[in-house]
Amino acid sequence: MSFIMKLHRHFQRTVILLATFCMVSIVISAYYLYNGYKQENELPEIASEVECGDLQLLPYKLMEMKAMKPIDHLRTDLVVLVFVESQYSALGQDIITILESSRFQYHIEIAPGKGDLPVLIDKNKGKYALIVYENILKYVNMDSWNRGLLDKYCVEYGVGVIGFHKGSENSLQSFQLKGFPFLVHSNLGIKDCCINPHSPLLHVTKSSKLDKGPLLGNDWAVFQINHTTYQPVIFAKVKTPENLPPPTTKSILHATVIHDLGLHDGIQRVLFGNNLNFWLHKLIFIDAISFLSGRKLRLSLDRYLLVDIDDIFVGKEGTRMNANDVQALLDTQNLLRAQITNFTFNLGFSGKFYHTGTEEEDEGDDLLLRSVDEFWWFPHMWSHMQPHLFHNESSLVEQMILNKKFALEHGIPIDMGYAVAPHHSGVYPVHVQLYDAWKKVWNIRVTSTEEYPHLKPARYRRGFIHKNIMVLPRQTCGLFTHTIFYKEYPGGPKELDKSIQGGELFFTVVLNPISIFMTHLSNYGNDRLGLYTFVNLANFVHTWTNLKLQTLPPVQLAHKYFELFPEQKDPLWQNPCDDKRHRDIWSKEKTCDRLPKFLVVGPQKTGTTALYLFLIMHPSIISNSPSPKTFEEVQFFNRNNYHRGIDWYMDFFPTPSNVTTDFLFEKSANYFHSEEAPRRAASLIPKAKIITILIDPSDRAYSWYQHQRSHEDPAALKFSFYQVITAGPRAPSELRALQKRCLAPGWYATHIERWLTYFPPYQLLIIDGQQLRTDPSTVMDEVQKFLGVSPHYNYSEALTFDSHKGFWCQLLEEGKTKCLGKSKGRKYPPMDSECRAFLSSYYRDHNVELSKLLHKLGQPLPSWLRQELQKVR
Ligand code: A3P
Repeated sequence: MSFIMKLHRHFQRTVILLATFCMVSIVISAYYLYNGYKQENELPEIASEVECGDLQLLPYKLMEMKAMKPIDHLRTDLVVLVFVESQYSALGQDIITILESSRFQYHIEIAPGKGDLPVLIDKNKGKYALIVYENILKYVNMDSWNRGLLDKYCVEYGVGVIGFHKGSENSLQSFQLKGFPFLVHSNLGIKDCCINPHSPLLHVTKSSKLDKGPLLGNDWAVFQINHTTYQPVIFAKVKTPENLPPPTTKSILHATVIHDLGLHDGIQRVLFGNNLNFWLHKLIFIDAISFLSGRKLRLSLDRYLLVDIDDIFVGKEGTRMNANDVQALLDTQNLLRAQITNFTFNLGFSGKFYHTGTEEEDEGDDLLLRSVDEFWWFPHMWSHMQPHLFHNESSLVEQMILNKKFALEHGIPIDMGYAVAPHHSGVYPVHVQLYDAWKKVWNIRVTSTEEYPHLKPARYRRGFIHKNIMVLPRQTCGLFTHTIFYKEYPGGPKELDKSIQGGELFFTVVLNPISIFMTHLSNYGNDRLGLYTFVNLANFVHTWTNLKLQTLPPVQLAHKYFELFPEQKDPLWQNPCDDKRHRDIWSKEKTCDRLPKFLVVGPQKTGTTALYLFLIMHPSIISNSPSPKTFEEVQFFNRNNYHRGIDWYMDFFPTPSNVTTDFLFEKSANYFHSEEAPRRAASLIPKAKIITILIDPSDRAYSWYQHQRSHEDPAALKFSFYQVITAGPRAPSELRALQKRCLAPGWYATHIERWLTYFPPYQLLIIDGQQLRTDPSTVMDEVQKFLGVSPHYNYSEALTFDSHKGFWCQLLEEGKTKCLGKSKGRKYPPMDSECRAFLSSYYRDHNVELSKLLHKLGQPLPSWLRQELQKVR
């Protein structure tokens, strides 16, 4: 018994001992876990401020990238959420500029004082792939509830955070960032900064040696880190104040950018101790976006560069190249090939100006022509005339032939397929004569311009394809015809160097996969600033980035461009007179007044032709002339006619005798449900008013079906209306097509919403088609008021009900009437109740949406809609 008791006691002791041991080990583990394995990882003593050269010697742990949970970015949309301080804050705008230049989608929120986050999740999918705070203090000082929500979102969706802390020029401040185990010293001057070559962020950025010395400003913040979960990305030494108070001088790295690996809470962050004024911060910011978005918002490393030298023979004496300059051009081209694969200068010529310099300069011309095969060549106009000044295509052709003859005489290749017009004239805005002449004489396939859609801002420049000519955006490099001498560079020579070394020109190359630069003959004579610029640019890019530079011949380059940006193929025309630069290169013979002031957009079968007839009765309202071929609607904005260009469109309209009082308009009833029409119309005629007519969508569908029957559409003849509207997904294609034309235009709310994303509500008039049919003069009064047209036209006297036709018609002299033709107001049996019931239910949700929309717009509901809504209840 006593043995059993002993055994029992012994057992009890063992259990207690074991439990105590377990407790102790849990406490110890927790301690080390919390302290990040401090003992094990403790950094050996290193110099108080790390020298760039010492980076290789840094302790292993610093360089090791801890394995984080892989980020699943398919669970979020590829949109960056940016919290800015205000709409106009400078850093906020710099952040947006980089996102826009990189063509990344973003959403801006003004950072709230306390909390209140925007909605972060939509149908189980994260709305944002990355979060950027212009002011990191707004993030760390957020109230705990919202911070908790944001952190939870970041952890669950693998979303990282980028934040900036910019000091002021005031005295030194040291503080701990709430919730982070490191100190921030702010309001400092710094010097001797360098990149941590082991940072996993680096992608575009290559770690290189920065010149020693102070950086601009005393408003820097440095992060004092001594923990392996925070990796420095850019180190710096503190310049002012000379000595930071202890203990900051021991075992400390000062960093202006740190990468929080997220080992504490599962959220990776990159924090910047200043704004983006420092070019290296900008480069690291680009890499941080890429890294924290799991490489989804990432710039490729391939960069294509084409340097055009325009006007190779055009230049005043004294500004042109002599033979030495040409030799330097050849030598530099070879030199550049070491850093830019296949680099070749692309020379544009106007043959008329050959041999118009001094004797030495003429020798330069000769050496150029002896070296024809070393370069690529493209034609300019023979006499450097602006193409928009030629109204006749034939005179343009003549000029081009002269230049082509010159090329043939001098062995200049004529098959590069690329041309550039003086001053962008004729390229954009499109002077169609130029495109046609280029095709005829030179078989041009590619050109480039800075003008599409506008010169500024440069990051919005795009390409497009018109008449099979690929128009590429062109970038500026800071060299113009008058930039000839280094010392006389506008703003001083430092400005050019700044632009090359981390400034505008450098970031043009970083942010654009394809850059076409235009330079001029004068940039290669005298101080040869062209050569200086591109050699230094290539060096700088090579030193600081991993970008691979290369040059492609223009046609290949253009194919590459539209491979990268296929969505840019379709142009978006604008009014040439809305931009002064465009107006200056718009033919005087073409006005901008031949554009409509309003559009009747449909949908079909709602009474659009009746409205058209009534409108043109008004003395100040003028319609387009019908299409000479089809006598039908123009249908410019919805279909391929759009690609014929605005000259084609404007030819349908007369030149108004009085621009203010005359109202040109166009009716194309297909515009209403077109995906493209609202965007295109808003781009060309943004101030135009838009008129739409709605009837019960079920009646509209039935009217369309009857319309197709009378046009002997085989599907409409073969299938009953019921069969058409109820056809399933496996039905024959012609039946499905007819079904779509019957039903889709009736999704009124969806289509109107689309128009309202491009036009403000006060530019949109929604007419009740039933009222137009029964009481047209009241509707026409409303239309006149909406348009602001004068004089007021009395429709109650001008219209009469024609009992024979069964509709309102125009009253002519001697009581005669002018009604619409047979195809409008047809006689057909009423829709059967089965079809009506089906359609009523089919359109239920659409009609509910429409009623909400009309309510929002403050518009009364038409009677048919009220009736339909009653059925819902
Ligand atoms: P139905 O022929 O089916 O009756 P649209 O011109 O947009 O194609 O619309 C044709 C419809 O306009 C006709 O459809 C007709 O009902 C309607 N309508 C309204 N007012 C009219 C009018 N004064 N004369 C003829 N049709 C008119």
